[in-house]
Amino acid sequence: MSFKARMEEASRKRESDIVLALDFPFQNSTNRKTLLTRARNLLEAVQPYVCAVKINHHLLLPLGLFDGVQTIVKDIHEKGLLAVMDCKINDIGSTNQVMAEYYFAAGFDAVIANPFVGWEEGLQPVFEVARKLDRGVILLAYMSHKAASEGYGQTVINQKTGAKIPQYVLFAEKAVSWNADGVVVGATYPDKIREIYETVKENVPIYSPGVGAQGGTAEDARKAGARYLIIGREITQAQNPADAAKKVAASTRDRT
Ligand code: XMP
Repeated sequence: MSFKARMEEASRKRESDIVLALDFPFQNSTNRKTLLTRARNLLEAVQPYVCAVKINHHLLLPLGLFDGVQTIVKDIHEKGLLAVMDCKINDIGSTNQVMAEYYFAAGFDAVIANPFVGWEEGLQPVFEVARKLDRGVILLAYMSHKAASEGYGQTVINQKTGAKIPQYVLFAEKAVSWNADGVVVGATYPDKIREIYETVKENVPIYSPGVGAQGGTAEDARKAGARYLIIGREITQAQNPADAAKKVAASTRDRT
């Protein structure tokens, strides 16, 4: 089953559109075991309210891919959830391919990649590896932070047509033509979600980070066309992470 279909199924079963960003602040300790335990405990508490978990360098750097992170990926799968690696792949094709191969070997169901590097000798090898293994590739389209406009918001020339076009619309078009499994668009920019949805429609689901800590709201992102919400600190830093996740999941359940 494709990654896209498996996400749909997990979301339906859990009645949740939330991808948990399992992030923790820097911890200046040589005892990495405490971080691993903290991550596993939080996952255990929050898992009934999410459909997938996204891991970033917050855990990858201190725990390592095959030492600590793979243990968490196994936990994620045992709970019937999917695991996404937020590695923002952004190098030459041969290096990108090795990155994807390692993340998929560790069990990740999908990787996030940056379309700035293009197709040939860029992301093509990543898509090829993903297709062979039935895994997913999610592309950035418009990031959630303040300076996103400096890159993703630039006006560029479409090399095929010669027309002027916003960078993020061009990325959305590439996501459709490359058959990507998702695009990331910040919840902090509902107008951009709306515009990108016009291009990708139901072909490429929109994953939206930026709810809570970065100022976006789940409701606005959903209304604008986001399919999944990527949420970190609003849940991980809450007094009661399970309650926080339950609340957001309930607020977005009505998709009408
Ligand atoms: P918070 O705590 O802000 O965490 O809810 C969000 C998580 O998502 C990552 N992030 C992004 N990842 N494109 C991405 O691929 C984005 O535009 C984006 N914005 C935030 C962030 O690093 C954290 O893990």
